[in-house]
Amino acid sequence: VSAVRRVQELAVNGFDPPAAYIVKDSGTGPVVDTLLSVPVIDLSILTSSSTSSKEKEEEMEKLRSALVSWGLFQVVGHGIPIELLDDVREVAKEFFDLSMAEKKRVSGVSEDGTVDDLEGYGADSIFTKDHVLDWADRLYLLVKPQDQRKLKYWPQKPNNFRELLHEYSTKSSMVAETIVKKMTELLGLEENHFISLYGDQAIEYARFNYYPPCSRPDLVYGIKAHTDGGGITMLLQDKEVEGLQVLKDGQWIKVPILPHALVVNIADQMEIMSNGIFKSPMHRAVTNSEKERMSLVIFYSLHYNDEIEPASALINETTPRLFRKVTVRDYLSVFYPNYLKGERAIGWAKV
Ligand code: SIN
Ligand code: FE2
Repeated sequence: VSAVRRVQELAVNGFDPPAAYIVKDSGTGPVVDTLLSVPVIDLSILTSSSTSSKEKEEEMEKLRSALVSWGLFQVVGHGIPIELLDDVREVAKEFFDLSMAEKKRVSGVSEDGTVDDLEGYGADSIFTKDHVLDWADRLYLLVKPQDQRKLKYWPQKPNNFRELLHEYSTKSSMVAETIVKKMTELLGLEENHFISLYGDQAIEYARFNYYPPCSRPDLVYGIKAHTDGGGITMLLQDKEVEGLQVLKDGQWIKVPILPHALVVNIADQMEIMSNGIFKSPMHRAVTNSEKERMSLVIFYSLHYNDEIEPASALINETTPRLFRKVTVRDYLSVFYPNYLKGERAIGWAKV
């Protein structure tokens, strides 16, 4: 395969997925029906001045257990207006509904299929013959540092796209900052220990995912099982169509739709900096034969030049250091090829 195809074009006629998308394992595999349910954290309990300290302690305990045993949770009471969440979803839908020619105006892939830039409107880039492609198209944009935005990839249609993404990103960064500060508190570190995740030098990417229906959802993934390579990730799920699953103690568990919640997951950099206390979970998305699904992911990463390592306060005789000091750049360069193969990279950073 030489050219990057948009999955939306492949899905149009309901043909079976081409070989390059077919997973070689047991397909989408069993999802175990379990009583376990993904934790839901009410951030307003932690931030409001009118909740009792007992309520706060209980919510902090829920957060601790979510971070330690799941690495993924839903957040309600985050303070982002519901209308903004709905507007962002709407503008994403309007973008993916545009004609292919219009969408390709913000593409980082040239007509012959050469990937010039991972940013912009695209799909899985094909780097090796043997990685299986995801059943998804994407719009991938650097949001921060703000002066590094490549506006040529920021759609001008729908006309409120840029403004809405900017506003949503501003609000969700505040939520990320609150959560990260609670995480430092739980680890007993000083409040600004992880400031490089959300401060001026932090890197923030937005990725709009579009999963067309697939005639054989049992053969493909919307996104293969992976962990995220940044520090933390915040996801706005589709309001109606499920698809996200998280691996917990060897079982794949559905992340149910709570229409106005944000899904937060720990990513590899935070697993390293917390010396493995907070888990960066494997997760994946499945497709279905009936309905398209969309999601918006915001990735927060430290700057490429930053060095990451476990906080020294977390290391002692009984809890030895689990990870070496590595630069974010080196980590991501090892992360990406592993990600494409569906493998974890974090072992590379182990002592
Ligand atoms: C992702 O993990 O990047 C996307 C998950 C989703 O679409 O729900
Ligand atoms: Fe992810």
